[in-house]
Amino acid sequence: MGSVLVIGAGFMGAGIGQVCAQAGYRVHLMDIKATALDKALSDIRWSLEKLGNKGLLKDPPQTILGRITPEQELNSAAKVEWVIEAALEIEDLKLKIFQELDSLASPETPLATNTSTIPITRIARATQHPERVIGLHFFGPVPLLSLVEVIKGKKTSPELFERGVAFVQSLGKTPVQVQKDIPGFVMNRIFCAALREAVDLIAKGVATPEDVDTGMRLGYGWNAGPFEITDNAGLDTWALVGQSMKALGEEDLVFRSDLIERMVKEGRLGRKVGKGFYQYTPEGKRLPWRSEDQSGV
Ligand SMILES: NC(=O)c1ccc[n+]([C@@H]2O[C@H](COP(=O)([O-])OP(=O)(O)OC[C@H]3O[C@@H](n4cnc5c(N)ncnc54)[C@H](O)[C@@H]3O)[C@@H](O)[C@H]2O)c1
Repeated sequence: MGSVLVIGAGFMGAGIGQVCAQAGYRVHLMDIKATALDKALSDIRWSLEKLGNKGLLKDPPQTILGRITPEQELNSAAKVEWVIEAALEIEDLKLKIFQELDSLASPETPLATNTSTIPITRIARATQHPERVIGLHFFGPVPLLSLVEVIKGKKTSPELFERGVAFVQSLGKTPVQVQKDIPGFVMNRIFCAALREAVDLIAKGVATPEDVDTGMRLGYGWNAGPFEITDNAGLDTWALVGQSMKALGEEDLVFRSDLIERMVKEGRLGRKVGKGFYQYTPEGKRLPWRSEDQSGV
């Protein structure tokens, strides 16, 4: 098996690193913050133990963990078979990272981004070799959700697109191919529109987040409602997704109310901090809905 550099060890980067290691790849997990790396390794250990106890791992958790090396520099880009960027959803930051990767990695090394919104073609502008840039859009929690959008930028080579699909399959994931490179791709355009309506409805007091989520689960067969999904992903990430979609001229798909931005300012970032639309125990178990916790929603 080859090796992968994953950039950003947050909610997504940790999950991507974990599934690559589970599939047998050696993983260089890079973040600028040592605290993020520590948290990522402890989250991965916790997740592997749970999966191991359910008999869902091919190798013991310790073996899988042993394949992951935490790092604070990008230098491993020079020696890996794949690079996957999963840092914050800020275009300038991604451009800077890709510019640096372009000078470190050999021109044959595929550079993938896990961006939620930014067209791959825009990110590829930061490189001299746009044909080796591709979108691999994982869904979180990555160890549990099997979908990965594989996105072709205008200049992504057909060979790389095929390799991207095969790489996703090698992780035991299911690729959905996105042939046209537009903001938000396929899944996030659909989810943004749903979240826009859901946020507007609760901001107007038409229904509670819990009732909207229950409705979407029971009425449309979603296995989590829009507020459950947003709490899991992080409200800070969704605020950045909204800002990015607006900057890309897609304001029609973005929530009109400033509710999510206000909740971020109040520190209600979702499951990772114990409160978002819902409240959670320190172990991450969701507490029963209490409307008095939601003042301001
Ligand atoms: N949260 C989701 O459900 C989800 C789903 C699909 C895609 N995404 C996308 O994945 C990316 C990461 O999202 P997330 O939710 O994991 O965010 P996060 O905030 O949990 O993690 C981002 C990490 O990137 C690190 N970082 C910042 N600057 C960096 C740099 N220059 N080099 C290396 N690391 C750096 C941060 O320290 C942080 O640990 C974003 O582009 C997001 O839009 C998120």
